[in-house]
Parts: sequence; C-alpha cells; structure tokens
Amino acid sequence: MITELLDCSEKSLKKAADVIKSGEVAAFPTETVYGLGANAFDESAVRKIFAAKGRPADNPLIVHISDISMLKGLTSEVPELAYKLAEKFWPGPLTMIMPKSEKIPSVTSGGLSTVGIRFPSHPAARRLIELSGLPIAAPSANLSGSPSPTTARRVYEDMNGRIPVIIDGGESSVGVESTVLCFENGGVRILRPGGVTPEMLSEICRVTVDPAVTSELKPGAAAMSPGMKYKHYAPKASVEIVRGSAEKYAEYVLKSAKAGDWCLLFDTSEAVEGIPYICYGSDSREQAHRLFEALRELDVKGAKHVFARCPELKGVGLAVYNRILRAAGFNVTDLEVQA
Ligand code: TXA
Ligand code: MG
Repeated sequence: MITELLDCSEKSLKKAADVIKSGEVAAFPTETVYGLGANAFDESAVRKIFAAKGRPADNPLIVHISDISMLKGLTSEVPELAYKLAEKFWPGPLTMIMPKSEKIPSVTSGGLSTVGIRFPSHPAARRLIELSGLPIAAPSANLSGSPSPTTARRVYEDMNGRIPVIIDGGESSVGVESTVLCFENGGVRILRPGGVTPEMLSEICRVTVDPAVTSELKPGAAAMSPGMKYKHYAPKASVEIVRGSAEKYAEYVLKSAKAGDWCLLFDTSEAVEGIPYICYGSDSREQAHRLFEALRELDVKGAKHVFARCPELKGVGLAVYNRILRAAGFNVTDLEVQA
C-alpha cells in the first residue's frame, strides 16, 4: 500500500474524511499525539487499525467526537458529572469512560461494555470528524509498544505501507496522550494521567489516582484499563530512571556508565562529562511535549542504556512519570533513599 502524506488544508481533510467513510484508516494530528482513525461503528474498518498497529485485540480504542451532542449515540448512560467535566475540559486532552451504546461494536471497545470518549481540540482533528460525519475510533498512531508519535514524520516511519493517508498538522502541543478517567462514587478515578491533571480535576470533583499509574500491576491482577498491562512507549535502549539531585545523578552516572550509554536530562547545564545526552525540558509541560520525541531520538542515536532524570510528579509531571516509568519497564534507581 502506498501511504500518502497530506497537509491539513480543507481539501486534504476532505480526502482523509472520504478514506474514513470508505472503511479505511487515516492518521491525523491531535493536541496530545497523532491518532490512527477509522469509523468507530464499522467493525471491519476498526480491525484494520488493530492490524496496522499490531495491537492486542483486548485493548479498547478511544472514540473521538467533534461535538458534545454526539455523546448520546455512543453511550447508554452519561453521568451528570461527565457533562460538568466536558463543559470545563472539552475540547481537550480528556477521555471519559462510560457505558457504551449497542451501536459500538465489541471490536472497538476491546470486548468491554464501556467506551472511552474524547473531544479533541486540534482544529484538523475536529474538522476531520465533522467532514466524515462519524465518530472516529483512534489509538495513538505508533506500532504497538513503541513511543506515541507527536509528528507526522514519526507516524510515517511506523505506518508507511500500512495505511493509505497521513494528515500532517505539525507537532502535537501536549505531547503525551489524554487523561483517561472513569466515574465512581460521585467522583472520578484516573486510569491514565495526561494533560488534564489531578489538580485541575480536583477543582470540580473528588479524584482518585489509580495505583497502577505510578506502580507495576502485580502479576495476574486485573487492569482497570487494559492498556496498563502492556509494556508501552519503550525505545530499543534500556531506560533507567534516576531519582535524586543533579549532583548525585552526575556522580552515579559517572560511576555506572559504559560505552553506548546516554543521559536523558532536563537541560544542558546538567551534562555529565564525556557522556552524550538529549534534553527533554526543564518544566513538566516541556517534558510532556518532548518526551516521546526524545525517546525516539535516542533510538536513532543507537543508545544502549539511558540514564533518565526523574521528573517531578506534580501537574502534568505525573503523566510524564507514568510514561517514562513504562519506557523504563519500572526500573527506578532512587539515590535519595540510598544515601
Ligand atoms: O490522547 C489520546 O488519548 C490519543 C489520541 C489519538 O486521542 N489516543 C490514545 O489511544 O492514546 P490509545 O489507544 O493509544 O490509548 C488508549 C488507552 C489505552 O490504555 C486503553 O486501554 C484505555 O485508554 N481505554 C480505552 N478505552 C477504555 C475503556 N473502555 N476502559 C478502560 N480503558 C480504556
Ligand atoms: Mg497508545
């Protein structure tokens, strides 16, 4: 299959909408990461997404809408709180899980009775959904297991020959995937942290952060969100998160690094002599924006092992930590407790 890379003009978006209406898959930009979209109601189209990504069939897809009025046809029950959160955070990087309507096929929901709905803010994503006149099921547009793409070029590297169309809408601004939450006891439980932070949600309702956000699921434990089970976002290099001051970090890396090892730093001022590095930003928003691209750059450089400085867990930093923790396969060295 030939993969066409298109700009995000009205003409190109119409073309991509036609692709989706005809039961095929199109990649498109969102403010979080790029998505791999198909008609959420069309089983055979949705199967093509799973095939293109090599995604396990039990991992459900998020359904994207371009207007709150589309919620009714996709869900069997919408909690009052969902409307409140929608008013505050939609369009934007928030996915809410609700009981699904019968119209959503089981392939789309990974066999679950619920569906995650998101109204993205990226103008090209919104226009594509409008033009297709359909809810669009879309996971991140990477091969299953590799870091989510935040540019059309990275989508092309993973999806060339696998899908007919990629819309280029520039760099994703947030850089990590949406916050995924479900409703419980009048409040919400965060299953995956993202651009809408626990602090932001706490202004509206009671918020619980699922323990699986910051720690490894015990073998055999049930995952509230199937995506939590899988090793994710992993570059080819092994990643080790190193928690501690810049000074302790430098000391530890100097002692441990071998040829082929790299540092993943906040900024250049922390460079450790003789060891190559990539920076991913000195505040949480920048780290979120840069993390996946930095992980892909480390692969291009052929890094064998990466010593990553540990992000702060506040605000969107919780999402950064959640992703890098999975990239590291939960390998964290804490220099503060070892001291
Ligand atoms: O920002 C995003 O959410 C991006 C863009 C394209 O919108 N999409 C995205 O999709 O990250 P994906 O498929 O890569 O991640 C969706 C996550 C998975 O971990 C999945 O298990 C979880 O959301 N999820 C989806 N539907 C769910 C449901 N009904 N119940 C529990 N977890 C669900
Ligand atoms: Mg994904």
